[in-house]
Amino acid sequence: MSEFVIAPSILAADFARLGEEVDAVLNAGADVVHFDVMDNHYVPNLTIGPMVCKALRDYGVTAPIDVHLMVQPVDALIEKFAEAGATYISFHPEASAHVDRSIQAIIDAGCKPGLVLNPATPLHYLDYTLDKLHHVLVMSVNPGFGGQEFLASTYDKLRGVKRRIQQSGKNIRIEIDGGVKVDNIRAVAEAGADMFVAGSAIFNEPDYAAVINSMRRELEQVAR
Ligand code: DX5
Ligand code: ZN
Repeated sequence: MSEFVIAPSILAADFARLGEEVDAVLNAGADVVHFDVMDNHYVPNLTIGPMVCKALRDYGVTAPIDVHLMVQPVDALIEKFAEAGATYISFHPEASAHVDRSIQAIIDAGCKPGLVLNPATPLHYLDYTLDKLHHVLVMSVNPGFGGQEFLASTYDKLRGVKRRIQQSGKNIRIEIDGGVKVDNIRAVAEAGADMFVAGSAIFNEPDYAAVINSMRRELEQVAR
């Protein structure tokens, strides 16, 4: 996979035509399918579960599926999403009673783990966990809804996460989620992100390829 990964959030897709929407966005040049799971408990919204993930696999989707769990409790869904064909599974540490156990459960299920940091979640959650992670997902909005405004405090946070990863010497991706669009993707990359979730910026436009190409053009100019 290339240096920069574009992961459209299907939260903003037309759910009545989900298979076609995923095919369309992958054909338009996306790398990864970002799959937002909300439980009306950890976040005040309700979306999709493992059956929908499996349905996408059965439909023929072969791209990595990036499951973002906004659920509490976490552990019971890990196995179910692994069986449903998830590639990456991330969760919010505040939603798990035993963060290390949840990370290990993701690894044992054959998936790659990520930890999600909300806007107010401190970086110390990366102490004792970072070495096991495939990615750190930095939320640039409060979780629960698409179409929100990117929070400017995120830039500093991305730089902090980047520093920690550099110190660890590991190759761990930094994913950014919330309010990412053509206008800010370059600054977000310069602050350290290399995996970009975008929901409304892509699915609310008629031409997905045009948006993704514009994002790639911005990313080509990143000074790092
Ligand atoms: C928010 C979700 C995001 C959301 C992003 O809780 O985790 O993935 O769909 O949507 P946009 O790109 O519209 O902010
Ligand atoms: Zn998400």
